[in-house]
Amino acid sequence: MWAFFISTLSIGLCSLYTPEQVHIAWTDNDQSMSVTWGADESSVGSMVQWTPIQSHNQTVKSYAYSALGTWIVFPNMQVSKILQRHIHVCKAYMTNLIQGNLYAYRVGSDIYGWTDQFSFQAKKNYQNNQMTRLLVYGDLGIGDQIIATMQRLIEETNTYEYDAIIHNGDIAYDLDTNQGKYGDIFLRSVEPIASRLPYMVSQGNHESGPVLPHYINRFQMPGNISNFWYSYNTGMAHIIAFNTEPIFDGLNDLQAQQMVFLQNDLKNYDKQKYPWLIVYGHRPMYCSPNLTTTALLKEIPRYRWNPDCQENADFVRSVFEDVFYNAGADMVITGHVHAYERLSSVYQNISVPCEYQDQNTCIGSKAPVYIVTGVPGQDDCYAPISPTPLPFSMAQDDKLGISI
Ligand SMILES: *[C@@H]1O[C@H](CO)[C@@H](O)[C@H](O)[C@H]1NC(C)=O
Ligand SMILES: *[C@@H]1O[C@H](CO)[C@@H](O)[C@H](O)[C@H]1NC(C)=O
Ligand SMILES: *[C@@H]1O[C@H](CO)[C@@H](O)[C@H](O)[C@H]1NC(C)=O
Ligand SMILES: *[C@@H]1O[C@H](CO)[C@@H](O)[C@H](O)[C@H]1NC(C)=O
Ligand SMILES: [Fe+2]
Repeated sequence: MWAFFISTLSIGLCSLYTPEQVHIAWTDNDQSMSVTWGADESSVGSMVQWTPIQSHNQTVKSYAYSALGTWIVFPNMQVSKILQRHIHVCKAYMTNLIQGNLYAYRVGSDIYGWTDQFSFQAKKNYQNNQMTRLLVYGDLGIGDQIIATMQRLIEETNTYEYDAIIHNGDIAYDLDTNQGKYGDIFLRSVEPIASRLPYMVSQGNHESGPVLPHYINRFQMPGNISNFWYSYNTGMAHIIAFNTEPIFDGLNDLQAQQMVFLQNDLKNYDKQKYPWLIVYGHRPMYCSPNLTTTALLKEIPRYRWNPDCQENADFVRSVFEDVFYNAGADMVITGHVHAYERLSSVYQNISVPCEYQDQNTCIGSKAPVYIVTGVPGQDDCYAPISPTPLPFSMAQDDKLGISI
């Protein structure tokens, strides 16, 4: 009765059950796409509906397929004096997609209303050396600091020329802040891009501890292992999301599981079909030190000891470098440091020249190229250009930006 009462009261208005924060992601199956959304309250019968379309601007009158969603309800761990808020998230799968086809979709229900129509392209079935295009960044917050970046991301994704977006850890600062409202605000901000392209996330240090349930439940990555790590293929690339946090959180069992996953995954993926190996995780293995200041963007930078590019980078390297080097990884992408830096191919802190290389090119790498891209918008701890670049640092930039 309560639910009915609310819904009749709220015709034409937002109700507690109005679906929002819609985002999609690739799954372990190339013919399916997961969709995740939120509402203030769960509602029975929530589903996703989808249907093939000819172009993204085609308006759909009816949907050919539907699948029921599964609600997950979890308490925000930050206990307020009045009431501990529960977060309601719904997950569903669009299945039996024809690769490369365009689809329109919406989520909701007849009783409580539907979202607008969204659309996406099912994972392409690439032939030969067609290019995969990814938008990549770590460290994206909420509010004024991300307006410029969001405008640019919306422009970039308007043409649907990308395969996916990678958000390489540190999401919303933090997903659980203000009883989880920051997570809601963040997911509303990225909906225009994340409802259109698979929004692939990795775990950053801001998704640990009490934030972890938000990270696990508000996203649905491949692999069925709480979004901790996973892999997928796109175009000619095998891509692995690894996790730099278990070693910092002292989670040795989890770390041991991750190493087993990495060893099996690297051994078993199809190296003929996917000659490129790209990995991403949150914290850098290489970056030029003294990048980080304690200052906000608007303040004068104050240099300080920066462990992220020194002892912490050494630590990440000691655990992961050999695993990726031995597997012939081409590129290791990280974030965490709020700047952009590109390093030439390197192993054990020594440059390993490519067959051909200049500042912007490496052809025939013999060790991974390292890229730090953590500057889409987070005023706190803004990182100026390092005054002490590593000898193999090829480019640095402290302006707002994303990587393509
Ligand atoms: C819709 O998209 C198609 C192809 O993507 C394009 O040719 C057509 O001009 C678009 N129509 C409108 C009204 O934008
Ligand atoms: C995910 O893992 C759980 C147990 O860890 C298992 O019960 C479930 O069936 C798995 N789901 C899929 C889709 O593999
Ligand atoms: C970084 O800054 C600290 C404090 O100013 C200084 O002691 C240290 O030598 C610097 N490190 C590098 C590599 O420049
Ligand atoms: C790596 O090389 C840089 C510069 O060549 C040096 O300052 C740094 O101490 C080295 N780090 C380790 C762990 O050897
Ligand atoms: Fe971080």
